[in-house]
Order: sequence, then C-alpha cells, then structure tokens
Amino acid sequence: MLELSNIVVQYGMVKAVRNVSLTVGKGEIVALLGPNGAGKTTLVSAAVGILPVAAGNIRFDGADITKRPAESVVAMGLTLTPEGRRVFAELSVADNLTLGAATRKDRAGVAEDIDRYLKMFPILGERYHQVAKTLSGGEQQMLAVARSLMSRPKLLMLDEPSLGLAPRIVERIFELMIDLRKSGLTMLVVEQNATEALGIADRGYIMASGQVVYEGNAAEMVDSEDLMEAYLGAGVH
Ligand SMILES: Nc1ncnc2c1ncn2[C@@H]1O[C@H](COP(=O)(O)OP(=O)(O)OP(=O)(O)O)[C@@H](O)[C@H]1O
Ligand SMILES: [Mg+2]
Repeated sequence: MLELSNIVVQYGMVKAVRNVSLTVGKGEIVALLGPNGAGKTTLVSAAVGILPVAAGNIRFDGADITKRPAESVVAMGLTLTPEGRRVFAELSVADNLTLGAATRKDRAGVAEDIDRYLKMFPILGERYHQVAKTLSGGEQQMLAVARSLMSRPKLLMLDEPSLGLAPRIVERIFELMIDLRKSGLTMLVVEQNATEALGIADRGYIMASGQVVYEGNAAEMVDSEDLMEAYLGAGVH
C-alpha cells in the first residue's frame, strides 16, 4: 500500500534520512523503531509530503506521490498524526475534529464519523465544547488521533503516540490501534516503546543514524534479546 524506495531527506547539507526503503502492506501494522535522532520523524514527514525528498520514490495506493503536496496526500488517504500531540490549542474539541475532515466533501459522512469517534473516545464527547489546550496530555493525544481519523485515512502513520503518557493511557492507545486494525485501517507506528509496539505489529523496522539497520517479523524481533539490546538499548521496556 505504501512503498518508500531509497528515500533521502536533507536538512541543508545534513542527510537525516539516507537511502531508506520501507513498505507497509494493506491491513498491516508496521512498527518503526530506533533511538532519538534516528530519522523516524523525518521519514514519516517526507512520506506525507510535509518535507521534500532529495532522492527516492514514494508510492501510495498505486500512485506515485513523491512530489505531491501534503493536502493532496491526505485526500488520497495517507495521514500522519504528528509527534507531540499537535492539536489546535485555541479551538474546541468539536472544531478540531471538524478540521480533521477538511479534505472531505461528504458532510453526512463527516457527521457520522464524529459520532463514531466520540463513541470510540468517550472522553472527547465529555469535553466536546472545551478548548483543546485545557485537555490533559492523554486527552490531547486521543484528540490528535481522532482528528487524524476524521480524514478517513486508508493508512495512518502515528509518530510516537504514547510518548510522555501515563502507563494506563499508553495501554489504551495500543488497544485503540488494535481496534482500528480490526476496522480495516493500515498503520505505521513510530514508537520508543519497542516491546509494546512489536506486540501489536506484524513487522518492524529499526532505524539508526538515518538508515534502516534491521527489518523483520515483529514476533521474532521482540524475542531477540540481542537485537533489542544492540539497537534499542537496555532501557527499552
Ligand atoms: N528542522 C531540522 N533542521 C535540522 N536538522 C533537523 C531538523 N529536524 C531534525 N533534524 C535532525 O535530523 C535528525 C533526525 O531527526 P528526527 O526528528 O527525524 O529523528 P527521530 O528518529 O524522529 O528522533 P526522536 O525519537 O527523538 O523523535 C536528527 O539528527 C535531528 O537533529
Ligand atoms: Mg521523532
């Protein structure tokens, strides 16, 4: 469904992503792991057209999207929930959700989806008219995910959805990803919580210093202590 081939992304003269190839098949959950500064955020930002690629090719759902602007990529069904729970702080939960559907024209469908996601994230229903900046960190992350879902993605990329959240909320986020997969969503999840991410993923990639240093079956990766220590550090939980 998504095919990144030999992607290079530069910040000025510095190559943050060097020749990375990665695929996500329909219905899969793929985990993208690696230490701070590995290039994970840079890679997913380039995949959705937020950052330009210096070289390489991006295909999504049968089309070459390498040079497509982000808005058009979202309209095709490839959406990123960015790092750091970015929501429109001054807007209400309701307006944040509506704006998530900005690329859609099917008003009835948008209303249906709002109902659906308020059921999935009941806390957002309780906070519906509240300004987003007054939500807790966990609630803001739920809103960021729900807002991304409002674009009706076929493939959702989540950049560190569990970062900085309490264990109970982290667990809830992972449960949600399992539910979303059951509903037919394909996902690429960037995570520092390697064990948990591999626990729900089909396949995993490990990046370090801008390159893919390992790719494999998620269950095998999580069982390989050597691998987890070598690339992800002993501090991985
Ligand atoms: N806007 C920028 N300008 C210059 N360099 C940048 C910029 N953004 C990121 N970098 C550099 O690119 C490299 C990759 O950063 P990136 O944010 O993609 O890593 P990451 O794997 O997402 O890390 P983390 O786990 O900390 O989120 C780092 O060396 C970083 O310092
Ligand atoms: Mg990052």
